[in-house]
Amino acid sequence: MSGFSVAWLDLREGPDFAARDKTLATQALQWMSADADAIPLIVDLGSGTGSTLRALTNPDISTPVGAGPARDALSIVGAGPARDLVWRLVDHNPTLLNEALRRHGKTHIIEDYEADLLALDSLPLTGARLVSASALFDLVSRDVVDKLAAKLAAQNSGFYAALNYDGRTEWTPAHPLDAAVLEAFNKDQRRDKGLGLALGPDSGPYLQAAFAKLGYEVQMADSPWTLGPDNRTMVEELINGIAAATGNGYGLNAEALQEWKEFRLQNAATGTCIVGHNDILALPRT
Ligand SMILES: C[S@@+](CC[C@H](N)C(=O)[O-])C[C@H]1O[C@@H](n2cnc3c(N)ncnc32)[C@H](O)[C@@H]1O
Repeated sequence: MSGFSVAWLDLREGPDFAARDKTLATQALQWMSADADAIPLIVDLGSGTGSTLRALTNPDISTPVGAGPARDALSIVGAGPARDLVWRLVDHNPTLLNEALRRHGKTHIIEDYEADLLALDSLPLTGARLVSASALFDLVSRDVVDKLAAKLAAQNSGFYAALNYDGRTEWTPAHPLDAAVLEAFNKDQRRDKGLGLALGPDSGPYLQAAFAKLGYEVQMADSPWTLGPDNRTMVEELINGIAAATGNGYGLNAEALQEWKEFRLQNAATGTCIVGHNDILALPRT
């Protein structure tokens, strides 16, 4: 699928970063430096414009995770000598990859790799200390997760997948159609988005089980978006997206859905919206 614009990814980046579980992100960085002999290579799947790289290393964001440039990110978490992270960004959208390079190519060690995640056997996973992703695994099928997990287990790589949608969307003020729209939206989330029948809201628990079965130590943490008046443009995009996704094939009355959409848009500047996600960190047992 090619439906992710730079503008949309930029809109969601702030709420994504705020939502990301900082303890798991910190532990992912600790894993990167726990073996002094390993190259600190992170392969970020579905990288877009480099959101995971920014979250883990952005010097402008002052948190225990992102309080310094790449080299500092490892020393901040106190897990060993400072070393530069090496990033391999993988996406099938060259526009997004080029944007990632434009933003970070001069300040970070980056390899970009244009590939379809469905072609698992040709993905450049070799040597990855950690395979990461954000806002990706709810688009992915069970089959892709199973095959990827087996590959990572065979080479002892860690796995960090942030911001997997978990099926919860809660609005204020409430509207009588909220529950029916959410049910339809969650069905749509399970549609094939180009990576097989999508796991949608099941992605977190499925990833957890898939890696646990292979002997990994797996942690899952909530990472919900908490959107309010400051996120009005993003909320409006979300409302339009949900209305478009649920308009066909899910039995919602078109007029009622239109009324829901108008109500939601009218309240976007003052209401709130919580969208549930989870983060997964799976590490090989040492
Ligand atoms: C929701 S975006 C998340 C992007 C980025 N990780 C972030 O958090 O901003 C999903 C990303 O997965 C990529 N993607 C979707 N399907 C793909 C596929 N079959 N092969 C490779 N990349 C894919 C998209 O191009 C997009 O960059």
